Amino acid sequence: MSGRLQGKVALITGGTSGMGRGTVELFLAEGAKVVVADILDEKGTQMERDFGPDLAYHHTDVAVEAHVKGAVDLAVKKYGRLDCIFNNAGMGGVSGEIQSIDMAGFDKAIDVLVKGVVLGMKYAAPVMKAQKSGSIISTASVAGLSGGFGPHIYSACKAAVIQLSKSVALELGKYNIRVNAICPGGIATSIFGRGLGLPSQLADESAKKMEEVLVDFQPIRRAGLPSDIAKMALFLASDDSTFVSGQAIAVDGGLMAGRERGQGAGRIADGMTKVFRDLMKT
Ligand SMILES: NC(=O)c1ccc[n+]([C@@H]2O[C@H](COP(=O)([O-])OP(=O)(O)OC[C@H]3O[C@@H](n4cnc5c(N)ncnc54)[C@H](O)[C@@H]3O)[C@@H](O)[C@H]2O)c1
Repeated sequence: MSGRLQGKVALITGGTSGMGRGTVELFLAEGAKVVVADILDEKGTQMERDFGPDLAYHHTDVAVEAHVKGAVDLAVKKYGRLDCIFNNAGMGGVSGEIQSIDMAGFDKAIDVLVKGVVLGMKYAAPVMKAQKSGSIISTASVAGLSGGFGPHIYSACKAAVIQLSKSVALELGKYNIRVNAICPGGIATSIFGRGLGLPSQLADESAKKMEEVLVDFQPIRRAGLPSDIAKMALFLASDDSTFVSGQAIAVDGGLMAGRERGQGAGRIADGMTKVFRDLMKT
């Protein structure tokens, strides 16, 4: 590895699993010191043992203000600064038809997927302002860009993360702080299994299976992998992206490009040709 994050300190929420975990591993390999903030304490403490002194775990429910503040404080106390926060923790949340949305589930989704991101930004901002540099990255989703890629409330929350990132980018740019959102497409992680209520270990095993399920989901004929997101997060955390801010960047194998001609405009053109031919005959 080339040490693209040498000397930098990052805080990654949801860092024990999926794309968060992939990002933790890549950031460490690139020379960063990393605070992992998650609710899966067993995995987090195991990561501390596996990766040594460059990684610290902090029990953090991102919906709890004191927890998020504690995670930021730990980064500063233990490693001296905070160059990047990756607000990545998430889950599918409440689903179902709009007429039967469970409002406790709604509150929970908003708390984790929106409030959790707001809190990460709130506590990272003053540290980064004092440093006059920083990169705030948040995981949104293609579901925040277009309908039909997730439950209603999840989609609304991810759209909120995109707009929040743009709005905060405008405020923090003058302090040399970039604020961006990554919009993953179909990424093979345990989030799907967890959403179906599988116990933790089975959900982890389901991540590999999702690689088969997602093969045809997008123009690039393979599933997205946590490493695909980690590489975008690396770009946004590194000095390669010092003029990139206020963006929602899709990492989706081309999913957001639209429909292939045969399924979209091509079908309309074929239909029109048939209509015109029939008209000409009459
Ligand atoms: N996998 C996909 O296809 C996909 C697509 C678009 C966006 N996303 C988003 O990517 C992010 C990461 O998800 P993933 O796919 O890697 O799933 P994952 O289930 O592997 O990882 C999610 C992590 O977030 C943690 N988490 C959940 N609730 C938390 C809370 N309240 N506080 C702290 N940590 C919490 C979990 O413990 C887990 O470690 C999420 O925000 C998700 O919405 C996923």
